[in-house]
Amino acid sequence: MLKPIKIKEDLYYIGVNDRTRHLFENLWPLPKGVSYNSYLLVDEKTVLFDTVDICYSDIYFQKLEIALDGRSLDYLVINHMEPDHSGSLGLLRSKYPNVQIVGNKRTADMVKGYFNITEGVRIIEDGEELTLGKHKLVFYLTPMVHWPETMMTYDVTDKTIFSGDAFGTFGTLDGGITDTQLHPERYYDEMIRYYSNIVGKFGSPVQKALEKLSTLEIATICSTHGPVWTQEDQIKKVVSIYNKLSRYEGDEGVVIAYGSMYGNTEQMAEAIAYELAEQGIKEIILHNVSKRSHSYIIRDIFKYKGLIVGSPTYNNKLYPEVEYLLSKVEGREMKNRYFGYFGSFTWAGAAVKRLAQFAEDTKFEVIGAPVEMKQAMFNETYEACVALGKAMAERLKQDR
Ligand code: FEO
Repeated sequence: MLKPIKIKEDLYYIGVNDRTRHLFENLWPLPKGVSYNSYLLVDEKTVLFDTVDICYSDIYFQKLEIALDGRSLDYLVINHMEPDHSGSLGLLRSKYPNVQIVGNKRTADMVKGYFNITEGVRIIEDGEELTLGKHKLVFYLTPMVHWPETMMTYDVTDKTIFSGDAFGTFGTLDGGITDTQLHPERYYDEMIRYYSNIVGKFGSPVQKALEKLSTLEIATICSTHGPVWTQEDQIKKVVSIYNKLSRYEGDEGVVIAYGSMYGNTEQMAEAIAYELAEQGIKEIILHNVSKRSHSYIIRDIFKYKGLIVGSPTYNNKLYPEVEYLLSKVEGREMKNRYFGYFGSFTWAGAAVKRLAQFAEDTKFEVIGAPVEMKQAMFNETYEACVALGKAMAERLKQDR
């Protein structure tokens, strides 16, 4: 039997770790697992913040019962209805029939739609308060971070924000729950991957949410995934990661994402990479789109300003895995990237034309001349690749 962890006065962590699932949303790899975080605040009234994936409801309810220590559960605040957090809601209502469910109008619609629950639901408005005794909660509606109903709840007394998916990370909590108990840097890349894969399309709503939070003094961030952020420098760091990602601002560096059946197109990618290095660019990441999960490629495209995509022609179209990657980039309405492209064919070229269309659709700034190769690489193509690498390096260096 696992026990709840007290993370501060009146506040218990009762979340769970998932080391079993291979893919989050059945799409994104979980090599380090993921945690589903839930918190219980114990005051004159008791309040639960979100639940957990239904696969972990047994262990979750055990922890909840111990944390309640014989008391009743008064409120369940739902900051986010995606089933990794709301999955245990129906069972919770069966176990605690008097619990009042607190959410906004959109939450209530989803509670009805997913669980057919309409009774005992308290609908709150943006900025509404709920006093629990010593603690006072204020609700902030933050739609599309990451669903339309998403909101955040601020405990005015303790300056704690229950932020839903925001500031969350992939990766389980292996013992330590708060940032003081672990090495936070282990989670930064997984925060970027979580953001770019799951929330990446919603840069503008995230900016609006950050604007709303900017007036609050925040001492603790309790997200629904990953560590609890309590240290001033860590809170600044994770907020700045979100700020940067949601503005689609990248660091100096280049992702070269390519497809290649027999290695010819890959040689073009390598020639470009050598020249980037020659020109003093240190962050160069080559991704073979057939081998590397797109989850990591998307993460790196969010991290770096430069993007170069290469593809062979396949069935008179783009190579399928490259097309799939591009659809993910377009789906996230990615902005502000310097874009170069190259392609190859054996008897009729189509890849470069499609990449030109992609550049037009995304409004990326096209850098250098696109390179198109027929069959294998000889001197002329090599020099054209070098010129593309050089042009990209020069554009990046202008921003220094
Ligand atoms: Fe962690 Fe949008 O769910």
